[in-house]
Order: sequence, then structure tokens, then C-alpha cells
Amino acid sequence: MTGPSPLKRIYLSPPHMGPAERELLVDAFDSNWIAPIGPHVDAFEREFCETVGVPYAAALSSGTAALHLALLMLGVGPGDEVIVSSFTFATTANAVMYVGATPAFIDSDPISWNMDPGLLGEELESAAKRGKLPKAVIVVDLYGQCADYGPIIETCERYGVPVVEDAAEALGSTYKDMPAGSFGAVATFSFNGNKIITTSGGGMLVSLDAGMVERARHLATQAKDPAPHYQHSEIGYNYRMSNLLAAVGRGQLRVLKDRVSRKREIFHFYQRAFGDLPGVSFMPIAGYGEPNYWLTCILVDPARFGATREDIRLALEKENIEARPLWKPMHLQPIFKDCRVRSGSVSEGIFRDGLCLPSGTALTDAELQRITRIFRAAFKG
Ligand SMILES: Cc1ncc(COP(=O)(O)O)c(C=O)c1O
Repeated sequence: MTGPSPLKRIYLSPPHMGPAERELLVDAFDSNWIAPIGPHVDAFEREFCETVGVPYAAALSSGTAALHLALLMLGVGPGDEVIVSSFTFATTANAVMYVGATPAFIDSDPISWNMDPGLLGEELESAAKRGKLPKAVIVVDLYGQCADYGPIIETCERYGVPVVEDAAEALGSTYKDMPAGSFGAVATFSFNGNKIITTSGGGMLVSLDAGMVERARHLATQAKDPAPHYQHSEIGYNYRMSNLLAAVGRGQLRVLKDRVSRKREIFHFYQRAFGDLPGVSFMPIAGYGEPNYWLTCILVDPARFGATREDIRLALEKENIEARPLWKPMHLQPIFKDCRVRSGSVSEGIFRDGLCLPSGTALTDAELQRITRIFRAAFKG
């Protein structure tokens, strides 16, 4: 006798592949360009530039590699300080450590959950008074929503500090009609398995500056000098994207618009499904742009909801549904406990009460209804 088959696991944001990806991948395979170089890498870079509206791009092995190279491009090194959004995934701050510099963290604003431009201004003012400005500022576009670049860029330009835009989660989002990836000296993207489009693992570095991207390609290809033999005048990295994965990325780019629109539908579905419950609020959508709604994120006030975000997460987990707490701010991470932070209470509150809900673009309406039933049953207000 067999019991009922277990319900298929619902993941947070799994890959969603289609026929174009398969066709392009087979083409890459059949052409025998099985290397971190090839026609699909070139075409992916070209098509990415067209999609994002940037002139130059280098396809890399990960978003982390792109951040690492971005800091090297800007000459960040030992003894330097880099300002970083505290509310982010660890890799943003790790990249600062890779180059031997030290991160200093800035809290979020409650309008977008991204770097608070006012606190950044205070930090740069006090750094200027100390006579030691940071070497760069890394601004993150979290959960698919751009930071408030108007005041951020203006402040950084006033102090002459370059900006790196970590747009890993924000492909397809806009800020004042400008696409994510348009801001700062360099911007970086991720095609990790859970991102809005994926190559299983991969990243892209983009810039308005052709020289910067050319240099990124050079460093990412072991920094080989132009000589017939193997000659190296500086330390290089093995950071280029495989031609096979670039083929998958090209197929994924073709459906980016559909993916954004399905993510938006899912966000609005959840809003209608339990936005009425006391104590539940959704990630604020800042009026200055359009997010890609990568993950639907909510806050749960336990005093009004009668249960915590962890109670909801466990209720979903029991039914084989994945939900996750939001990023734990960097200034709360044991590894960064000695780093400076400006404020911190906003991101601490978001972390305490926040939950990411399943947001995969292949979610069916029946699955969304199932999630809704479990969520509403958790309400004890
Ligand atoms: C904000 C942020 N920055 C950087 C990365 C790093 O990208 P990757 O996983 O491709 O190295 C990620 C995600 O993974 C991310 O969420």
C-alpha cells in the first residue's frame, strides 16, 4: 500500500527555462565552443547591452566575481574603506574584503529598504572632516528595487567618490525610467540560480567606460599579456563566463519582460490574498521607479498578526513550501561586527519581521491558492 504522494516542493525562486534556452545550449554544444570564450559569450554581452541600455558589458562567472573586479577597476586596495549598504547579501561586503579593504555600513531608508541617501551624506561629510574619504560606495538594489540614485549620485559626486551599483537582484527594474545598471562607474548583475533570469551561475559587469570593461575582461582571463607565450604582468583571475552558460543566458534574456510581468502578478496576487490581514505589510514600492518584483517580501507585526514571521515560515515548511527570512544586515553579522555602521535600526526591524514568499514565475494559480490558505490559517489576531 502506498500513501498519498508527497506534495511537490515549492521553492522560493527556482530557475524557469524554456525552449529557446535549450535550442541555444544545444547550438553551443554542437559548435564545440565548450570554453569561457565563444560566439555565445560575445552575443550575450551584446544582447545584454541592448536590453539594459548600457554600451559595454563583460560576461563573468558570477555576480561576486563582477563585484570583485569592479573594486579592482576602481583601484580599491589594502587600507581603503568602502561604504556598503548594510541590508544586503554577504557577497557585497565580502568583495570589499577580497581586495583587502574594510567595509563601513549604512542603514536602509524605510521608503525602498535600500541605502538611506541622508545617512550616506552624513557619513561622507564626517569622512571628509576626518580627512579620509572612502575609496568607493557600493549601493545595492535590493529585492529588485533600485536605490534612490538621484541624491546618492549627487552626494557621491560632491565628494568625488565613485559608485558601484550592485544590481544583482534588479535586472529589468527601473529608476526614473532609467534601467537598473545605469548608475555609477560600474554596475554588476548576477545570474545565480534563484535570480530573475539565470545561467545556473554567472554575472555581468557593465559600464559606460569601454576601457573599464576591457580591463575587466583582461583580469577575468588570467591577465594574459598580448604575447604568443604565457606572460603575465599582474595577477589575473579565472572569472569569464562559459560559452554554454552564455547560450542559456541569451534564451533567458528573451523572456525577461515576461518574467518581470509574472513576478508583478505574483506580488499583486499576494497583496489581494492576505494584504487585508492586520499586521501584514508588503515591501514598499518607491514611487520613483518600477521594480522587477524579484521576490515578494512582507513584514509581519506579531502584536497584530498574532504570530511571527517564523511561525508563518514553519507553517509553510510543514507543507513543503519554502519561504525565507530577509537578508540579515551586515552590521549584525559576526564576521563584520567590528565594522562601523551608521544607524541600523531600519534594517534590523526589516530583518526581524521580514519574510520572502515563494515567487517563482512558474508557480501555478493552484499553488498560490495553497500558499494563501496556509498563510491565512497562521493568522491568530
Ligand atoms: C545583492 C547581491 N549581490 C551579489 C550577489 C552575488 O551574485 P552571485 O551569486 O552570482 O555571485 C547576490 C546573489 O547571489 C546578491 O543577491
